[in-house]
Amino acid sequence: MKLSRRIQDIQPSATMKTLGLAKQLQAEGVDMINMGIGEPDFTTPEVIETAAITAIKTGKASFYTPASGLKELKQAISDHFADAFHLNYDLDQIAVTTGAKMALYATFQAILDPGDEVLLPEPYWVSYAEQIKLAGAKPVAAPLDANGRLTVDLLAAKATDQTKAIILNSPQNPTGEIYSRDELIAFGNWAVHQGIVIISDEIYGELVYNGQTFHSMGALGEQIKAQTIIINGVSKTYSMTGWRIGIVMGDAQMIKAISAFVSHATGNPAAVSQYASIEAFRSGATAAEKMRKEFETRLNTIYPKLVAIPGFRLTKKPEGAFYLFPNIEEALALTQLSSTEFVSGLLTEAHVAVVDGIVFGVPGHIRLSYALSLEQLETGVERIKNFVIKNSSGGKN
Ligand SMILES: Cc1ncc(COP(=O)(O)O)c(C=O)c1O
Repeated sequence: MKLSRRIQDIQPSATMKTLGLAKQLQAEGVDMINMGIGEPDFTTPEVIETAAITAIKTGKASFYTPASGLKELKQAISDHFADAFHLNYDLDQIAVTTGAKMALYATFQAILDPGDEVLLPEPYWVSYAEQIKLAGAKPVAAPLDANGRLTVDLLAAKATDQTKAIILNSPQNPTGEIYSRDELIAFGNWAVHQGIVIISDEIYGELVYNGQTFHSMGALGEQIKAQTIIINGVSKTYSMTGWRIGIVMGDAQMIKAISAFVSHATGNPAAVSQYASIEAFRSGATAAEKMRKEFETRLNTIYPKLVAIPGFRLTKKPEGAFYLFPNIEEALALTQLSSTEFVSGLLTEAHVAVVDGIVFGVPGHIRLSYALSLEQLETGVERIKNFVIKNSSGGKN
């Protein structure tokens, strides 16, 4: 069977590949610490599950809903983000999709033409680049400065007449860093001036730690808001990755286009998940806060141990999401391993799964998730440390 050129150009999700390998070894009886995962380890809070069961039992989950989501859910979303992020979106400015992944995919399909370019600050989440290519457009990586920060000058250096959009992801996967309000305003003003659309992926916006503040791109004034498309969802905040509910918020005309697209692509997101999400937004706050606090404790416990591993460097403690993205160039030099050998050695010898930074466009780094119990995290970091020591020149034979 001859596959389309479009699909031949697509790389399978590398994070999914790591997860698959780790699960395979686990199934073979290996005691694996899987720090490669990209989802919370908690089960969905009971109050949300109960709402889903009720929706099924009362027959409400049996039927199609409007393709871009139930009105009741859009209202719950509008109310929640007004409260959480000071956002102000009417119901015709909101579309509900099958996960934030589809929110992004539909957005690219709605705004990109072949030949358009999209700026992707490095390191970037793996699916952005592939989804942009699927829309016939070109991802353009924008590197950070020597301090690891993104600046308007760096963006301007990569922009061309074809630049249609920029993706900002804060808190960021894989670094866990957040942009300050001043940084966001600078990026926003620049994009407005250039006529570039801002796609702001805020899926980790409610997972922020140690008193840090997250600012939504949609709350930084009318001009920036008009130029911005917000992506969010329930996956990370409410530990609902399996339910597949994502959100797009922005200009009403663009939302109409996205709704038309999803009406042909997926139809409505699963009705039962929509009813569960209404409950998440209305009464999931207490459970969400409990999970956030647990992530915070894990970060604070594991961070000092991770930076104590020989050759592991982190310039800054992460502020959000649930990932750490250390620079391991010195550890690679110590062990004389390539990053591929390092990651596969961790998997097969140390039995710790991590993701190679290369899939986020930044070699010499690895991504570790702390969506694991404290005990597993401590074991995982200890195993990584022992692996580095064992393979360092002194220990090598
Ligand atoms: C930055 C980022 N955006 C979007 C998503 C997609 O989330 P969802 O489960 O809602 O499709 C993820 C999931 O890993 C992510 O890390």
